[in-house]
Amino acid sequence: MFVVVGVSGGIAAYKTVQVVRALVTNGHEVHVVPTEDALRFVGTTTWEAISRHPVTTSVHDDVAEVRHVALGTQADLVIVAPATANTLAKMAAGISDNLLGVTLLATTAPVVVAPAMHTAMWDHAATQANIATLRERGIRIVGPADGPLTGGDSGPGRMVEPDEIVAAALAAAGAVDVVGAPASDLADLRVAVSTGGTREPIDPVRYLGNRSSGKQGVAVALAAADRGAYVHLVAAHVEGTVLDRALHHPRIAVERALTAAEMDASMRAAAGEADVVVMAAAVADFSVPEVSDVKIRKEDGTLTLDLIENPDILAGLVRDRRPAQTLVGFAAETAADEAELRERGIRKRARKGVDLLAVNRVGWTQGFESGENAVLFVDASDEVTARASGTKRAVADALWDAVLRLR
Ligand code: C5P
Repeated sequence: MFVVVGVSGGIAAYKTVQVVRALVTNGHEVHVVPTEDALRFVGTTTWEAISRHPVTTSVHDDVAEVRHVALGTQADLVIVAPATANTLAKMAAGISDNLLGVTLLATTAPVVVAPAMHTAMWDHAATQANIATLRERGIRIVGPADGPLTGGDSGPGRMVEPDEIVAAALAAAGAVDVVGAPASDLADLRVAVSTGGTREPIDPVRYLGNRSSGKQGVAVALAAADRGAYVHLVAAHVEGTVLDRALHHPRIAVERALTAAEMDASMRAAAGEADVVVMAAAVADFSVPEVSDVKIRKEDGTLTLDLIENPDILAGLVRDRRPAQTLVGFAAETAADEAELRERGIRKRARKGVDLLAVNRVGWTQGFESGENAVLFVDASDEVTARASGTKRAVADALWDAVLRLR
């Protein structure tokens, strides 16, 4: 494929070197189009060496070959990574005062954009309006991820990891050679995935919830769909824009289920048609049996809530499993060390009766909300059969590798 990689002026440009490298290694012809500002972070020499093609920022080079239009018209795929708030604004307005702007106007190829900026800039109404405009035009937005930012702050704004950008871009272009995994190894598999944290109502304005962001479950759904599966994604509460890519994926159907009871009904129905079921949702273990119709008022300084235990959805799915169906659970454990985590995982896998359990450590500062994860996989051999750490997408791909080994 003829791939144009646009780079705008953010520190994350150093990570885009990996994107270009991965595409070149996979046999694609890659042309890098940096903005002037991008060259302050990574210079022409690096881009030329990695892409093996000349690099220019100017529309006035190679005028005889009409290079400024040729790049856009020849492209099968255009990636912009990192996309700064400024470049996103220019894209939304169709401004073409540099080679990247001209290329983006001249192309009809799929465009995949990986934003990177400070959280305050990402959250600004102007940036959000520009993102909405770009989405409406069919441009795929991947990320930004949530995590530490340059300068010590933390929040949404980090560019997603290179492997995720490459996977999203190749999927958008309909290519099959996603780096690290053949894109079609789950072809035609029917998959049901749950994600997010359920919320159990107390009264019209309050609920019992948990800190699950939904990122890991959504990554599991996206990985499966990018590898060819048809995915029914049942989502409880998820953070911010976490569901966005799934909502636009041609092989993912998203259904919302906000309480444990709704999740139970939705997952039973979804599992009835699935070859593989992954319960990645954080389901409330307890709910309030009598939800108040009116907002509970503070009267005597204390409030006692009676809670009843919710049915274990996964246990029900295991009981009613279809022939040859593979069932996967997640377990978040507050273990002291890896040995304890392993022991707990092995015991829980057996108790739940699932084929595979992904076990991760959680604590006040670990496991939730971040873009990264570290898990052990335990199967019916009562051993840790695989480990995975890194982006939640990398963990998701490792999960599907483990599922394939079992099937
Ligand atoms: O027992 P524990 O809650 O740690 O088990 C976690 C696994 O069980 C997850 O896969 C979760 O989605 C699932 N679960 C469930 N129904 C519940 C509680 C948890 O299906 N009520």
